[in-house]
Amino acid sequence: MKNVQRAAEFYSRTAGRYARSRPHGIREPVLARQRDAIVELARPRSTDSVLDVGCGAGRVAAVLRPRVGWICGADASSEMLALARRWLDEGIQASLETLDLGRKFDLIVCCGVFDFVEDAAAGLEAIRRHLAPQGRAVVSAAAVSAIGVGYALVRRAQGVRVRLYTSRRLRALAASCGLRCTAARRLPGGSVAVMLEHAGGRV
Ligand SMILES: C[S@@+](CC[C@H](N)C(=O)[O-])C[C@H]1O[C@@H](n2cnc3c(N)ncnc32)[C@H](O)[C@@H]1O
Repeated sequence: MKNVQRAAEFYSRTAGRYARSRPHGIREPVLARQRDAIVELARPRSTDSVLDVGCGAGRVAAVLRPRVGWICGADASSEMLALARRWLDEGIQASLETLDLGRKFDLIVCCGVFDFVEDAAAGLEAIRRHLAPQGRAVVSAAAVSAIGVGYALVRRAQGVRVRLYTSRRLRALAASCGLRCTAARRLPGGSVAVMLEHAGGRV
């Protein structure tokens, strides 16, 4: 079984916890700060059309919702997507790597998904093909850090493989897919985020 299927099954199985107000218990304040940092990096605008890939239960979408024009969420797990729907104008069950909606978005957010993606270049290529010419994408992933290693070990015990990233690795992968990194940031809670735009010429 592919890791994306293992991840989707894991999140489908555990989706119930995300219906609670504090699914991560004492880690909740740190993860709230992480979401705020992602949204700050994304610089949302009221006219933005947004694609939230791997939207999960919609916790990033919930913060973005009052600040943008339209949000489409996609997730490999239908159970997670069902929880996110209240924040979304449109929801699609799909995997990042094979997503092909035939339209482009002003802002793409993809948070905590590359952790599970086996072919990161395919994932970044999917982001590139959905990004409007002047659009921006924020990608966050578990970082090479003590927290990241702990997270990977826990998920491994739950049957899901997690990859850890540095901003340098994300930047290099993005560059190989025609995307330029314009900012990189360590996030609270052991993640790293990059802001991406089209590199000159390839849209
Ligand atoms: C750690 S959660 C993050 C959810 C949300 N982005 C957030 O920041 O709160 C990861 C989500 O990504 C989904 N996912 C994992 N691999 C995926 C893939 N290859 N394509 C689409 N969704 C994926 C899982 O089903 C899960 O809902």
